[in-house]
Amino acid sequence: DLQIVAADVRSLGESPSGPYDGVFHAAGVLRDGLARSLMPDRVDAVLGPKVGGTHALADLVSEGEHPAFVVLFSSIAAVRANLGQSAYAAANGYLDGYAARRRAEGLPWYSLGWGLWTVGMGEAVAPRAAAHGVAALTEDDGIGLLRTALGRPPAHYVLSAATAKDASMTAVTPDAGLWPSLTLAVGKVLHLDSVSAEDDLLELGLDSMMAVELAASLAADGLDVDPMVFFEHTRVGTLLTHLESLPRAASQAPAPPAPAPREPSYAAPVAPVAPAA
Ligand SMILES: NC(=O)c1ccc[n+]([C@@H]2O[C@H](COP(=O)([O-])OP(=O)(O)OC[C@H]3O[C@@H](n4cnc5c(N)ncnc54)[C@H](OP(=O)(O)O)[C@@H]3O)[C@@H](O)[C@H]2O)c1
Repeated sequence: DLQIVAADVRSLGESPSGPYDGVFHAAGVLRDGLARSLMPDRVDAVLGPKVGGTHALADLVSEGEHPAFVVLFSSIAAVRANLGQSAYAAANGYLDGYAARRRAEGLPWYSLGWGLWTVGMGEAVAPRAAAHGVAALTEDDGIGLLRTALGRPPAHYVLSAATAKDASMTAVTPDAGLWPSLTLAVGKVLHLDSVSAEDDLLELGLDSMMAVELAASLAADGLDVDPMVFFEHTRVGTLLTHLESLPRAASQAPAPPAPAPREPSYAAPVAPVAPAA
């Protein structure tokens, strides 16, 4: 049975009662603008449905049996925003952090960092992006990626048109494993504030000396890597998948992530924002 109810996601008092098989949070508002135009009402308009909506949904599903999954529709902007998207990046970064916290509690929360779609809020932008060589996800691409992600363990997945072409869906940003040390090393060697799975090492200026430095840095994690590997797997997400398939000295595996604080808070860490490519 399908029941459609119109409601403000920030206040779901009148919603049909659970249990819910699964929950998708896809409400969002875009109000791009440079910092000087970021009045509180514009920021609230963007943060409200994402941050307030996530907490309202969390309250809604906290009673009784937890749904099989909760999926927060986030954006690639949280890791790689365009000019004028600071509020939108912060709102989506909050979603990514919040879902990670719930996963740390053992709950099946996903955050999906969507790249541009040809529909919805992407519709007006997609033609201009295409003119600059940036592809957008069609509805079929997006639904396909959604199905693929839901078949995988709950995590933060960055899903874009580039990912859609990649059947193995390598462009993910898992919270654990080698991701923290790889991004730390790449950021340090290439002098970047933030690194996303979509980044391409060659486009970021990797040279052979830097590749040697990267290999040395990963050696600290027990990985014996030939520096050539960074020229063979240039996308960070693809590189991560490759590195995680390599044998590693068990005693030097990275420590598990620190446990998350118990209570959700609006002051949760926001994903760093890098300029758009
Ligand atoms: N399309 C893209 O290219 C793209 C890329 C990255 C991420 N995303 C994310 O994917 C999600 C869906 O995007 P979309 O393209 O479908 O956007 P969209 O076409 O603009 O739709 C957003 C929907 O959110 C609803 N909404 C906003 N505030 C709400 C609130 N307080 N309570 C309930 N509903 C509310 C809007 O309802 P009303 O129309 O009634 O206001 C609208 O139906 C968003 O979270 C967006 O950030 C989209």
